[in-house]
Amino acid sequence: MNHSTKNNIRGSALVPLLGGVVILLAVLFFLVKLATSGYYSDVDESTPSAIETRIMPTGTLTMGDGTPVGQRTGEQIFNKVCIQCHAADSLVPNSPKITHNAEWAPRLAQGFDTLFTKALNGFNAMPAKGGAADLTDDELKRAIAYMANESGGNLQAPPVGAEGDASDVAASGASAADTAAAPAGGDQAAVSADGKKVFDGLCFACHAANSAIPFSPKITHNADWAPRIAKGKELLFKHSIEGFTGPDGGVMPAKGGNANLSDDEVKAAVVYMVNQSGGKF
Ligand code: HEC
Ligand code: HEC
Repeated sequence: MNHSTKNNIRGSALVPLLGGVVILLAVLFFLVKLATSGYYSDVDESTPSAIETRIMPTGTLTMGDGTPVGQRTGEQIFNKVCIQCHAADSLVPNSPKITHNAEWAPRLAQGFDTLFTKALNGFNAMPAKGGAADLTDDELKRAIAYMANESGGNLQAPPVGAEGDASDVAASGASAADTAAAPAGGDQAAVSADGKKVFDGLCFACHAANSAIPFSPKITHNADWAPRIAKGKELLFKHSIEGFTGPDGGVMPAKGGNANLSDDEVKAAVVYMVNQSGGKF
């Protein structure tokens, strides 16, 4: 009896001891679990795309059609981004609207490089890259050229890369038309000695018979042209290539604002205009 009582006493001391150890282990287990369970992620934290996602500005453009970045056409980008403020019927103040040639003419006169720099960095109410931070420089140029060329301009944008062409056409039938609107340098050189083409592509923005630009001599208005023609062919060539400010402050921008035109292209356009307007160059 004595013996068994002693055992019982020892046994009963063991129970709280074991219980304590079990509880301690359980608490440790949950602490460890808690400490390691804070953050689960499917993506490696430091891949370029994960970093980009974290530092991504708001309003970033994602093309829904899966066209890879860098391979999007000017028309695709226009219809996704620029159209918000540059649509023909847009109500946004000051933005030059697509197909409104008169609004584009003075912009075009700045030349492609200036238009590009201003669209890239932002300008008054025009946000940098139109707010689409993932546009590449070439894509932005294509978007500008697309808009400008629908609006009386004749800008040459970098073509969509050859490897992207097939998927572009599959992704959007628009791509072929866009490429046609912004032909590669080679195509352009082949047709541009044609003065009418140069005129239709650029000069007519300010020299059309019904142009609203002040002081510019209008095509087929012989009386506008007679005093100009009297200056002689070479001086008119010089003024249209180098630019010219008239006595009343009218400004003829150098090469009509497109520095990419060759001298011969500009001369051909002068000859075309003059010969449509009572002259014989
Ligand atoms: C949130 C509205 C908005 C969006 C989107 C936008 N623009 Fe503009 N953009 C403007 C406004 C407003 C102006 C006129 C700024 C001025 O002259 O004060 C302008 C002017 C321009 C000009 C003329 C700059 C100059 O030097 O005269 C170009 C080129 C241009 N935008 C290109 C683009 C392109 C390309 C896109 C699409 C990628 C785009 N814009 C998207 C509002 C916008
Ligand atoms: C942004 C508007 C604009 C564009 C684009 C433009 N011109 Fe002019 N051009 C004018 C104005 C304005 C004048 C009149 C300047 C004056 O005498 O006051 C003028 C004058 C001229 C003259 C007469 C110069 C003289 O000495 O009297 C010629 C020639 C001419 N432009 C050729 C061209 C050709 C070629 C193009 C296309 C490659 C072109 N222009 C594009 C605005 C423009």
